[in-house]
Order: sequence, then structure tokens, then C-alpha cells
Amino acid sequence: MTGQDWRNVTVGGERTRVRVLADLDRDAPYLWPSVGEYPVYDDYLYHVMLEDEPRNKLFRDAIAQEAPGATVVELGCGPDLLWTLCAAEAGAARVFAADVNEDSAARAADLASTTAHDIRVFGGEATTLSLPEPADLCIAELVGNIGGAEGIDAVLADARRRHLKPGAATVPAAVGTRAAAVCLDDLLGGRYGVRPEYVDYVERLLDAAGGFFDLRFCVGNVDRSALRTTDALVEDLCLDEGVADFPSVRLDALGPGRVDGLLLWLNLRCAPGQPVLDSLDTVTNWLPVYVPFAEPFDLADGDVIELECRAETVADDIHPDYAFTGALVRADGGRTPLAAESRYAGGPFRASRLHRALFESEPTAARRGGRGR
Ligand SMILES: C[S@@+](CC[C@H](N)C(=O)[O-])C[C@H]1O[C@@H](n2cnc3c(N)ncnc32)[C@H](O)[C@@H]1O
Repeated sequence: MTGQDWRNVTVGGERTRVRVLADLDRDAPYLWPSVGEYPVYDDYLYHVMLEDEPRNKLFRDAIAQEAPGATVVELGCGPDLLWTLCAAEAGAARVFAADVNEDSAARAADLASTTAHDIRVFGGEATTLSLPEPADLCIAELVGNIGGAEGIDAVLADARRRHLKPGAATVPAAVGTRAAAVCLDDLLGGRYGVRPEYVDYVERLLDAAGGFFDLRFCVGNVDRSALRTTDALVEDLCLDEGVADFPSVRLDALGPGRVDGLLLWLNLRCAPGQPVLDSLDTVTNWLPVYVPFAEPFDLADGDVIELECRAETVADDIHPDYAFTGALVRADGGRTPLAAESRYAGGPFRASRLHRALFESEPTAARRGGRGR
């Protein structure tokens, strides 16, 4: 097919090929690997966040409200210290900033040293870090495409135990994830592939995750017209209160039509009383995630999808795997079990239809020589 091709993906001495689409229209729905969960941040990814004004406005406003006079810690500060500087400029007494990426932490420390503010930067994982004193406010832009996917719940639970004063505020205050059923096959017009420039991120993500598995993909350029059911909140993290809830939901068919998976997207509230950023309705760096069902099926009027979401931190006690179980309930009461999953790492490779369409074959030992196409 025109514009469709294969590129090598080599991970841990094994290789397969991923399908690429070089001719996608700028406005067409596209697949993007969900990279924010992994230590693969680079200047491009930081720049995309730096330019995300809907996100930045919410963080700026929340920090201006919470930071004056406070001792602040920012977990995951990045090289540009965006929110640390924002807190310092809003009148924070002092700011501790940390990033697990040593290069980002070093660049952040250099930047801090050029200011007159009381800022101390630490390199390292937030959950192993020790701070000189407990903080009144914790800023953590560890927000995933599925809200909790970057581990914000586990990192803030640890922060409340070790880094924060009782009752400390958090920015964001709450992270939610909504779900609805969609048909990716229709959205993509049956053409599966990633843009050629994304292949490197696929490879780096799989490498960071320790090998080939059915990695999480986002879908860009989708909006509400893609939804084939009503939507509902399936993950509800009240970070300022330390309460995580995964409500059982029902998704009502919006009419007859095919579905092949779930779309999951972010609802972010940075401070109490602030507007919610909904990543399906907003042009932002967070993209909705697609999670395939085992098989496509046709919805009819009156059908309902009952759904439960579970998040379990299996790989590293920080980043959750997501599992969705439930049933398709027909208008006549007939029930068909449904399941879908989206892991952080590990598990089978090419188990889903999406991953079989994207990846050519099981990986085999990579021969010596260049990476080729
Ligand atoms: C989404 S970026 C946010 C960067 C910047 N704060 C911003 O909002 O533009 C997340 C940053 O947190 C860092 N990070 C992710 N998980 C972390 C953890 N558990 N402990 C410390 N840093 C972490 C990453 O290296 C990355 O720089």
C-alpha cells in the first residue's frame, strides 16, 4: 500500500519490524507510543510540554494560589524547573526539586544556580529521596495519558509519608481517567502503522521496559465524535486527600455500530475549584489511550458495556498495569464477558489485534550489523 513500510525495532538483542505510515495527513488520527511512563525524556518531549499552554496555565494558577510562604517540593522537575521557578516567584519560602533523570537534574541545578531563589535540586527517584525538611506543598507533574500511569498515586503516597507535612497540598489535586468504547479500525480506516519518526520512541520505550510486550498506544487527532458509547470515570485519584477510587461503570451504546476497544483519557484538576482539563476536548500533550478488546463486536440500541478497572503496580511498585473486565449486556439481557489490558511492562507480545497489525512477527535474535530500515 502506498506510504506503508516496515522499520526494524531492535531491543535487547532481538529484532522485529514495525509498520510505518509515511503519508499520513496532518489531521488524520495517528498512533503514538505512550512514552511518559518511561525514562526516555528528551529535549523534544520536554519542549512539547513547555509549549502545552492549557496544561501550563492550570499549573501556574494552582501554584500561584498554593505556594506563597510555603516550603515546596517538586517531584519530577525536568531540566527547565518550570514549576519550581513558578513557586519561587510566587513567594515560596524555599523549593526542593528532584528528577530521576540525572541529566535533567544536573541541568535543573545549573539553572537554579543562576537565580537568587532558595532552590535545592536533587537527582534521583522520588521514592528513595530524603529531603532536609518536610514540605507544605508538593508539585508533581507525573500525570499520564491514563491519569495514574506515570505512578503519581504511588509517588504521592510515599511523599505524604516521608516528604510532606500532614495536610500538605498537592498540585495536581486530582487526576481522573474517563473511558468509552470506540472502533479504532474505523478511525484509522484500517491502516495501521506509526509515523516513521516515532519508531525510535517505540524502540526506546521497549528497551526501558525490559523487552518486547504489548506497549500502550495513544491515538492523536480524535474527538468525541469517535465515541460509540457514553463515557464514565474509571480511575479517580484524589491526590490531595490520598484517596484512589476505581468505580464500576456502565457505558450505554449511542446507537448501532462496531467497537473494538476502549478509549481512555485524562481529567486533570490542578487545584480545588479550578477547571478540569479534559484531554479529549483539549489540544494538549496528553493523548487518549486505546486499549483493544480481544475481538471487535457490534453494538445495538439498548446495549450496555459494564466495566471495572483495576490498577496494580506489578513491575516496580510505582507504575500500574491496568486491567478492564466486565460484560457486554444486550438489550434482551444476554451477557458476553469482556476483558482488556494495558500493561506498563512485561506480559505477552502480539497478543492483541492492534499489536499483531503493527508488528510483523515475534522477535528473533538480531544479526550483527546496522539497524537497517
Ligand atoms: C512529565 S515530565 C514533567 C517535567 C516538568 N516538571 C514539566 O511539567 O514540564 C516528568 C518528569 O518527572 C521525572 N520523573 C518521572 N518519574 C519520577 C520519579 N518517580 N521520581 C523523580 N522524577 C521522576 C521525569 O524524568 C521527567 O523529567
